[in-house]
Amino acid sequence: MIFRKLIGLVEGEASAAEVVAAYHERTKHHFHRYAASLGYMDWATQPDPFRRYAGADLVRLPLPKAGRPLPYWQLYASAAVPPMPLSLASVSLFFRYALSLTAWKQSGDTTWPLRANPSSGNLHPTESYALLPALDQIGETAAVYHYAPREHALERRAALDAKRWNELAGSFSEGSFPAGSFFVGLSSVHWREAWKYGERAFRYCQHDVGHALASLRIAAAALGWRLVLLDSVSDGTLSSLLGLDRDEDFAAAEREEADLLVLISPDLPAPLLTESKPLTAHGGGVLWQGKANTLTPEHSVEWPVIDAVAQATRRCESSPIKEDFSGFPSEDELFGTPIRQGQLTAERAILGRRSAVAMDGSTAISRAAFFRMLARLIPTQERRAMPWDAIPWRPRIHIGLFVHRVDGLAPGIYALARDPDKVDILKRVMQAEFCWQRVPDCPPRLPLYLLKEGDCRTLATTVSCGQAIAGDGAFSLAMIADYMDSLAAYGSGFYRNLFWEAGMVGQLLYLEAEESGIRATGIGCYFDDPVHAAFGIVSREWQSFYHFTVGGPVEDNRLTTLPAYNFE
Ligand SMILES: Cc1cc2nc3c(=O)[nH]c(=O)nc-3n(C[C@H](O)[C@H](O)[C@H](O)COP(=O)(O)O)c2cc1C
Repeated sequence: MIFRKLIGLVEGEASAAEVVAAYHERTKHHFHRYAASLGYMDWATQPDPFRRYAGADLVRLPLPKAGRPLPYWQLYASAAVPPMPLSLASVSLFFRYALSLTAWKQSGDTTWPLRANPSSGNLHPTESYALLPALDQIGETAAVYHYAPREHALERRAALDAKRWNELAGSFSEGSFPAGSFFVGLSSVHWREAWKYGERAFRYCQHDVGHALASLRIAAAALGWRLVLLDSVSDGTLSSLLGLDRDEDFAAAEREEADLLVLISPDLPAPLLTESKPLTAHGGGVLWQGKANTLTPEHSVEWPVIDAVAQATRRCESSPIKEDFSGFPSEDELFGTPIRQGQLTAERAILGRRSAVAMDGSTAISRAAFFRMLARLIPTQERRAMPWDAIPWRPRIHIGLFVHRVDGLAPGIYALARDPDKVDILKRVMQAEFCWQRVPDCPPRLPLYLLKEGDCRTLATTVSCGQAIAGDGAFSLAMIADYMDSLAAYGSGFYRNLFWEAGMVGQLLYLEAEESGIRATGIGCYFDDPVHAAFGIVSREWQSFYHFTVGGPVEDNRLTTLPAYNFE
């Protein structure tokens, strides 16, 4: 039935909403059956993790010699960071912090790179593009660039004449596109994830986009810049802006699905939503160069349901989302005392971020650290909490926590309602026996509740596909989405946004774990309906979209760490 719905879409029979619902159901992992995948590693068809455009000019980005001394906590206190002017050096630092390689790992004869942004299976389906104005030492005219992380360089895909750049800038109302503003777009090569994970891969690609979006926002914050998602741009326009619709440049190479566009600016005024007329696709005045490389010469398997759900979640042009945050807590109410100190630099947190491959089963964290990590996950009424100032919708992802080792806190199941207005509905959709007790000493408006005391290490491990990291951390969690209501409000395309929001939550937890001297790991492999059962969720309206674990890591000492770039 479900497959018929998906095939129905390909043949134009099923609605986009039906396809999304069918895809989500079909790609659940169950105790008795995992979502469809090849079932083994087909090493012969492993995709190249690096896209390059042969024939495009390469602009190398210099790496700064001295590290930037900005303290980590200042990332969240934007007014404290003077904006860097847009230049070769600042563009380089921006991509360095957002999406660059951060190390190579070596085991025996095998080496593999790690990046500032994490990725399911380290497969890195996300590609990024910048639309920059004319800039000294980068380009004499405005241009579209592809970011090449292995080289830490920009590939010039297209030169834009002044008229075209002014057209783009002119889409924003007076003062909303200050000098030094530019765009970054993200896209996904679904095949890179589907190669290993089969049909569930579309979910992982979207998680990765969410991680990359937060990574971009955090990098911008480190330079004193603002960043906002331009949520009203259609996927067709985005494809044109990034050059992804150019059949002649892809030939047999794997295509990229356009995902999102952000505006980055040293000095974005409030209000955040600044477009006055829609961005338009490129017409004339654009000279393209470069041909995309093929990532796998021959694919042994295709996953048509991924194309179907990608198509069902493409967006038409729309009005920007506007939601009211006036009922959200202030920073003081969320944190008690806002954090204005700490030894770690932003650079060390960003470039040092790593996933734990195993957790030690013994490290506990303080309550203060636990509360701070959770408070970071909630937007404030002033709309300045980074990275939540980048997206215009109120949180649709809420957190079901499995607390194992937090000093002074009873182990058990807890809930964090990331939108304070959703506490009542969460009470109704979750198990009736949960006690919903406020946590003693918790900051006054951190919406954290004890649901049920007890040792839940085995439960956490079991629902996370049996992965011990979920039970051996200090805590792990399920990200529970207000799924159907969100799609009803904003359409099927918002299915992607739910994963992006989950990925953003994850990216913050990664950095917060670094700040606490521990580690975190994203968990895309979990048994969907057993997770719902753990929280007593019966309604299909609420669905788990991602898992995460945070705790004391066990380092794998067999691996050697090498510098990211040989000129470092
Ligand atoms: C969406 C997503 C899902 C992931 N799922 C798992 C998982 O189920 N189990 C696991 O051990 N690691 C998981 N990871 C961690 C990745 O394996 C890790 O990010 C990747 O190997 C790169 O390493 P790094 O995070 O240290 O850069 C996931 C990461 C992401 C972003």
